[in-house]
Amino acid sequence: LFAGPVDFVKGVVAMSGLPPADRLEVCFAGRSNVGKSSLINALTGRKNLARASNTPGRTQEINYFALGDSRYLVDLPGYGYAEAPVAIVAKWQALLKQYLQGRQTLRRAFVLIDTRHGVKEVDEEILSMLDRAAVTFQVVMTKADKVNRATREANIAQVMQALQKHPAAYPEIVVTSSEKGEGIETLRALVATLQ
Ligand code: GTP
Ligand code: MG
Repeated sequence: LFAGPVDFVKGVVAMSGLPPADRLEVCFAGRSNVGKSSLINALTGRKNLARASNTPGRTQEINYFALGDSRYLVDLPGYGYAEAPVAIVAKWQALLKQYLQGRQTLRRAFVLIDTRHGVKEVDEEILSMLDRAAVTFQVVMTKADKVNRATREANIAQVMQALQKHPAAYPEIVVTSSEKGEGIETLRALVATLQ
């Protein structure tokens, strides 16, 4: 699946702009700068497919990428960016809620959590939103190359603990590094085998 063509489809700012719901899709959610765009690039093996950047809040649209004609990968704008204007945040939260609740073909949300930080309060908001929308979500820990073994183990434990109160949580997490390639094959297999 990942060996085939991958294309940027479009950036969406309203529900009316979503492509036809004619295939299964997975989305990538997470705090601004957590590594969503980098992960999509690592998964697809295209360096600059999704624009990754040091500037938080870089991805402001819902970006659709097509894996052949059988799957969409959906890059969601990051949340928790302190300097984003209030009106923009409100508009984005409304769109996110509509998307999560209304997108029939959304099969799983991957929620990215920085391995250095674990689950933070801003993450809890989206996890609860996913519970309410009854969208199964799976945590993907990012930037694993940036932490030592002890921090890694401690933050994995913190995440597993936090997931216990979320009924929509998938009980297994994936630890990744887009930089070093850790966990990327595992995630590819997960995306490819979702039905
Ligand atoms: P927004 O679009 O702003 O929400 O950010 P994002 O979640 O898409 O993050 P992005 O992929 O743009 O990455 C943010 C920064 O983290 C960039 O400087 C990346 O190079 C860096 N980064 C992402 N993944 C990794 C990783 O696995 N390891 C390391 N060391 N750096 C990473
Ligand atoms: Mg991004």
